[in-house]
Amino acid sequence: MILIIDFGSQYNQLIARRVREAHVYCQIEAPGITLAQIKGISPEGIILSGGPASIYEKGSPRVDPGIFDLGIPVLGICYGMQYMVDSLGGEVSKAEKREYGFAELNIKDAAGIFEGIDDQTRCWMSHGDTIRRVPKGFRITASTANTRVAATHNSRKRFYGLQFHPEVVHTPKGKNMFRNFLFTICGCRKTWTMKSFIRESVQEMRSVIRDKKVILGLSGGVDSSVAALLIHRAVGNRLTCIFVDNGLLRQGEAEQVKGLFKKHFNVNLRFISARQQFLGRLKGVVDPEKKRKIIGRTFIQAFEKEAHKLRGVKFLAQGTLYPDVIESRSAFGGPSAVIKSHHNVGGLPKKMRLQLIEPLKHLFKDEVRVLGKELGLPDDLIWRQPFPGPGLAIRIISDITRARLSILRKVDAILLEEIRAGGLYKKLWQSFAVLLPLKSVGIMGDQRTYEHIVAIRAVTSIDAMTADWARLPHELLGRISNRVINEVKGVNRVVYDISSKPPSTIEWE
Ligand code: XMP
Repeated sequence: MILIIDFGSQYNQLIARRVREAHVYCQIEAPGITLAQIKGISPEGIILSGGPASIYEKGSPRVDPGIFDLGIPVLGICYGMQYMVDSLGGEVSKAEKREYGFAELNIKDAAGIFEGIDDQTRCWMSHGDTIRRVPKGFRITASTANTRVAATHNSRKRFYGLQFHPEVVHTPKGKNMFRNFLFTICGCRKTWTMKSFIRESVQEMRSVIRDKKVILGLSGGVDSSVAALLIHRAVGNRLTCIFVDNGLLRQGEAEQVKGLFKKHFNVNLRFISARQQFLGRLKGVVDPEKKRKIIGRTFIQAFEKEAHKLRGVKFLAQGTLYPDVIESRSAFGGPSAVIKSHHNVGGLPKKMRLQLIEPLKHLFKDEVRVLGKELGLPDDLIWRQPFPGPGLAIRIISDITRARLSILRKVDAILLEEIRAGGLYKKLWQSFAVLLPLKSVGIMGDQRTYEHIVAIRAVTSIDAMTADWARLPHELLGRISNRVINEVKGVNRVVYDISSKPPSTIEWE
């Protein structure tokens, strides 16, 4: 395994992705990790990530320099390299010119990290500080026009430093550099596969859970579904999944979850029909944040009530993913990981004094998908677009009524059917309809109509932090509009949302 020390770079998750793609397991830890903890993990190699700080600034993040006496190979990237150089007696200072973007890398010594890579290759730079002098025992192994020390090493000690970022796609040979580090320098073997992950994770959960029971809130989304199947494989029907039908789901969704988990996978599933309760409390509520609060509270109550009926429950399982775990730790903080409450499960029953089980907490989303496939989940669930916890409630502007829900469900079903038929479902981050209970005039047959407006929203995005409106083909938009107006009573106008995030958001509420 490889240990990655997180100095706060926006790219550090990419480092972990590169290592895992090479089938080597890695873990990201904050710089506060102690030497004893590192020895306990006993990594084959250490990667020091980049970061926004300057090494000569007061309070800049540092890891115990004892790592350089462990006899383990170390790869420092950007700030990580500067930290290494500074710790071992070299000199770092402000660069005359900040360097950002592509640079041509001239490799002078191909041994080690650059093995098998052409003497000239492109790399991606992003730094304001530079190495003035390398420590004793180090050689300069590559330069760029602006940066004399673009790479350095002490091959006897197996310490390597790169000023550029090998983890980003803009460094085309970055993957080769990682492979050289992992396999040639550290001697890692390719043991990280989903099969091995399942085996180890099942074993670990069995030894922790033993004869006790676990509950899990199943939403029908990818993360909770994969977590449910993995735990089910470990402890069978000592896992109880609770699915709350809040009346705000899409057409056929509740039945799908029931059919798949109960009938197909034989998972112990408690299906709670709480539509009345949710819709009753949402009656007349217009404010989006109020809607969210009511839905969150009502969900917890329904979940708790059901959980209390079960005896011997000691564990609460959640489908928390690695990015949530990493982001909840500060680069400057200690090693203790405070897991932020995931906004999907916002503050699940604290009172219940249950121990948390988070079997996906070391996985990235794409790994969770591979895992889901391995566990037999159907493709349409694995590739499901995100759907917000408050469901259709935040896609009906103004207050929620059964009639409005019914209209939106029909529109949404048509939209998704057409998006799928057009082969676009997987390419879009999200595609959905929003009901605007405003009325506008139309004409149908020879009759004047006065009905609702529906907005179509389709966006592309990588992480929902930013998003762009999707350039859907006009023919497809035309087909959706025709079908909606013809097939859904109560709608006579369809509009397309062409706003990006920021300044808009993905959802309307
Ligand atoms: P916005 O609308 O903020 O959405 O651009 C970003 C992503 O978050 C989802 N979203 C939610 N998910 N509960 C959720 O579980 C919520 O209250 C909520 N609000 C927005 C949204 O669908 C998008 O993927």
